[in-house]
Amino acid sequence: MSKSFALNGSSRSRYAGNEIIPVVQDLSLNIQRGTVTALIGGNGAGKTTLFNMVSGLLKPDKGTITYISNEKEHECHLSQPYEISRLGIGRMFQGIRIFEKLTIYENLALFKFNINSESPFYTLFHKKAFRLLEKDIQTSIRDILEKLPGTDNVFLNDLNKPAGKLSYAQQRLLSMIGLFLGEYDLILMDEPTSGINYESIGDIRSWITKFMEIGKTVFLIEHNMNFVKEIADYCHYMASGKILYSGQPKEVFENAEVRNEYLI
Ligand SMILES: Nc1ncnc2c1ncn2[C@@H]1O[C@H](COP(=O)(O)OP(=O)(O)OP(=O)(O)O)[C@@H](O)[C@H]1O
Ligand SMILES: [Mg+2]
Repeated sequence: MSKSFALNGSSRSRYAGNEIIPVVQDLSLNIQRGTVTALIGGNGAGKTTLFNMVSGLLKPDKGTITYISNEKEHECHLSQPYEISRLGIGRMFQGIRIFEKLTIYENLALFKFNINSESPFYTLFHKKAFRLLEKDIQTSIRDILEKLPGTDNVFLNDLNKPAGKLSYAQQRLLSMIGLFLGEYDLILMDEPTSGINYESIGDIRSWITKFMEIGKTVFLIEHNMNFVKEIADYCHYMASGKILYSGQPKEVFENAEVRNEYLI
């Protein structure tokens, strides 16, 4: 698939000028079910743009994205983000994407609703609809939080705290817990360890291991090569919108260009 942007930031189709920057170029990639696949590459290589296309936030200019589940093929490049989410593809964003003014509990409840309901906000704020589901949600949230190693029950003990009062690392962990609640099959994570302290990186690693134990598929973007080495089955190195090297992490890290990019 391919994607270009105009220099002025508008999408190619709306731009009449000539200054078009190819960001993803004739890229072809397969993600195997039940594996952890890492996408690495320097700043601006096009990694997040690729994730934006898989999750439906951007449409490719050219090419297709097919997701196979229940032996059916789904055309993600023709689908809206909410449809892709309902297919079972969940996304953790680069940086923070939580609702700071909502409590930890409300944020988690939204993740839980995302895949199950037509309109998560309606259900969350419509008291009667919410009451009907509340027991269910509480049970799922407590269930997940009790099972996750290393959270120190900071979330469990403080469910009514505004999420904005959590530290940066905790907010990132909260969005990851949300992915568990969303019951997704394919989980996209954009730099899950960025800005996270050493101990919490250990938590993220064990959570991903848990995802894998229950048959999930993880596709992650990372700049932390030690983390990639420990967690990933496959690794793709991307530069200037193309995948240049693919293989097991240790094979890809042997390449001089990759070593130079990451100083390893
Ligand atoms: N909406 C947009 N309009 C114009 N240019 C864009 C847009 N989104 C991304 N770009 C450009 O496309 C290129 C690739 O961006 P992208 O965010 O995909 O990189 P990345 O590989 O995720 O980098 P990083 O590791 O820094 O997150 C960059 O040069 C970026 O400035
Ligand atoms: Mg990025």
